[in-house]
Amino acid sequence: MRIALLAGGTSGEREVSLNGAAEVERALDPGRFQVRRYDPACDLAKLVGDAGEIDFAFILLHGLNGEDGTVQGMLDLLGIPYQGSGVLGSAVAMDKYLSKELYRLHGLPVADCVVTRPGGGDSLQGIVDRLGLPLIVKPVREGSSLGLTIAGTVEELRTGIETAQKHDRQVMVEQYIKGREITAAVLGNDNPTALPLIEIIPGDGFTFFDYKAKYQPGASREICPAPLSPELTAQAQRYALAAHAALRLRGYSRTDMILDESGRFFLLETNTIPGMTATSLMPQAAAKHGLDFPQFLERLIELAVE
Ligand code: DAL
Ligand code: MG
Repeated sequence: MRIALLAGGTSGEREVSLNGAAEVERALDPGRFQVRRYDPACDLAKLVGDAGEIDFAFILLHGLNGEDGTVQGMLDLLGIPYQGSGVLGSAVAMDKYLSKELYRLHGLPVADCVVTRPGGGDSLQGIVDRLGLPLIVKPVREGSSLGLTIAGTVEELRTGIETAQKHDRQVMVEQYIKGREITAAVLGNDNPTALPLIEIIPGDGFTFFDYKAKYQPGASREICPAPLSPELTAQAQRYALAAHAALRLRGYSRTDMILDESGRFFLLETNTIPGMTATSLMPQAAAKHGLDFPQFLERLIELAVE
């Protein structure tokens, strides 16, 4: 099978993508898969020109212009199958606010939030009066915690919004839920399976699972399966499956959530192209489920063409 491995791209998660692609390239059996790399930042025209010689595209792009349905739409037009979600699901899941609205519609728990836009005339004090402090401030469409800050004061809310606006015009200001970080991966199409949960414990000096804690080896610890009661485990897995369906996803996804101190989960977001670097989460969950990395990749390809 001739595979185009799409990696790099123009989003803030470019490095994450390139690191993941190196691992994917190493893991795919060269006897079965002839892999050619394309970086949409510079090889788009070449990809289109080569379309007739490509059997499958493995999209390892994160964030805008990769995970958000744009590349998926182009591949649909070119008639090239690819792993994971299609245009609609990818676009919806990229937008944390729309995702939340859909989670809510499906009865899934989320923290209260507001969305601000430049010139939107929002009163910062009004936001604080409504949601309290501290607050999480993040771009609506971004990944890997880029542009995300915690605001403990109105002034920090102002600077947090400015920081987030460098990534996206729309900024989400969300109640800060103190608790444990849990992620739940899902694998499959019509009857997907929830994989073992992972708990992420940011190392000393990290208050949350920020960009550095995510990618600096040793900066955080992941425990799989997460040490939770069978009831809480089943609940988080049900939520992840429901989120996957609510957002119209396909193939695989990974839903991040917080478990608060009273034992309630709050869904944060669902990733449609979860990271594939050495420290990434979904490959760890797949391994616990019995699929080593090459088997996991092959399963994603099978799911895409079944
Ligand atoms: N957005 C990164 C790649 C992840 O969720 O794994
Ligand atoms: Mg993400």
